[in-house]
Amino acid sequence: MNITKKINYLSVTIALLAFAACQNNSTMSTTSDSTTTETDSSVNTSLIPLSKNFHSTFDGKQTNLYVLKNGNMQVAVTNYGARIVSIVVPDKNGNPTDVAVGHDNVDDYTKGGDTYFGAIVGRYGNRIAKGKFKLDGTEYTLATNNGQNSLHGGKKGFSRQVWDAQQLNDSTLQLTYVSKDGEEGYPGNLTSKVTYTVMSNNKLKIDYEASTDKNTVLNLTNHCYFNLNGQGSGTILNHNVMINADRYTPVDSTLIPTGKLETVKGTPFDFTTPKTIGERVNDTANQQLKFGHGYDHNYVLNSKGNINEKAAEVTGDQSGIVMDVYTLQPGLQFYIGNFMDGSHALKQGKKDDFRTAFCMETQHYPDSPNQPNFPSTELKPGQQYQSTTIYAFSVKK
Ligand code: GLA
Repeated sequence: MNITKKINYLSVTIALLAFAACQNNSTMSTTSDSTTTETDSSVNTSLIPLSKNFHSTFDGKQTNLYVLKNGNMQVAVTNYGARIVSIVVPDKNGNPTDVAVGHDNVDDYTKGGDTYFGAIVGRYGNRIAKGKFKLDGTEYTLATNNGQNSLHGGKKGFSRQVWDAQQLNDSTLQLTYVSKDGEEGYPGNLTSKVTYTVMSNNKLKIDYEASTDKNTVLNLTNHCYFNLNGQGSGTILNHNVMINADRYTPVDSTLIPTGKLETVKGTPFDFTTPKTIGERVNDTANQQLKFGHGYDHNYVLNSKGNINEKAAEVTGDQSGIVMDVYTLQPGLQFYIGNFMDGSHALKQGKKDDFRTAFCMETQHYPDSPNQPNFPSTELKPGQQYQSTTIYAFSVKK
């Protein structure tokens, strides 16, 4: 071997070693200080943020990033707000795509505004009118944080708490939060447990459990923002949506339900047959769209708590990624990022521009504690609250 050949050989070897080191780096993810999860080499982990960016202390508790996997799907969750940080699934060409909006470090979550990216919201997800409700003859006053109303549990809610996390295996993470009697104005010590499971065939299952020591109300949901073309990849107005709901709960100008369950027939709210989000979103004659600044409404699901009946289906126009929603919950808040304004930095150098993501928050109807005609959200001591939602991903070519 002459000297030039030797140098060439050496540089190729160095390049290969560097490449191997990089690959190795991207197939290992540290899920906590003590645990290291090795990931399947068929899964591209480079879309998952670095775990070390989530190692911090907040309210005296340690925050971390946990990476769950099963086959070709990966989900990253932080115990800060029990938030989904990333959901990586293959697109129609088999390319790994991160469909969940999120930040690449925990500081952006702790300092960020009230976006609720990926969070578990509680004790009461969605709005309670004027931050007041009556239970067993006693009036409770909640923290108000959305004009005159209480939204998503109040000032801090569950989305700004550090949850206790236990990774049960490669694909399952269990998070627990104990909300004290009187926290944000709610009665009863409430223990909530949320379990994220990445199932086979690209399904993410979220199980919720809760128990209380005093009569209380609760409405737990996940507030993940999805863009099925990949987070930060532009408008979601061309996503195709089906919502299995003949009725919805119209709202007043502060987004509190009027109490009526109204038909979607003949309105821009009719997604019983698939149409794009953008098709009727600018229907200026529709007062409900004005109040919501677009879609920000609760649908009364025809599936009525039957988890085997599809509640909704969304398709990304570019990626071909399809997300089906199944739930035990009676309602679904469809929100299309009307308050996204580009002021938050997302993963991979992206921004949260206007309507570049949508949410499908499976839940009880907003303001149920003040609405006698809505299904009850009360929980009593001795009762076990249990709920499940599945987001199932596939592709359409
Ligand atoms: C919910 C609400 C919206 C908005 C978002 C967060 O989905 O219904 O009005 O507050 O949360 O920005």
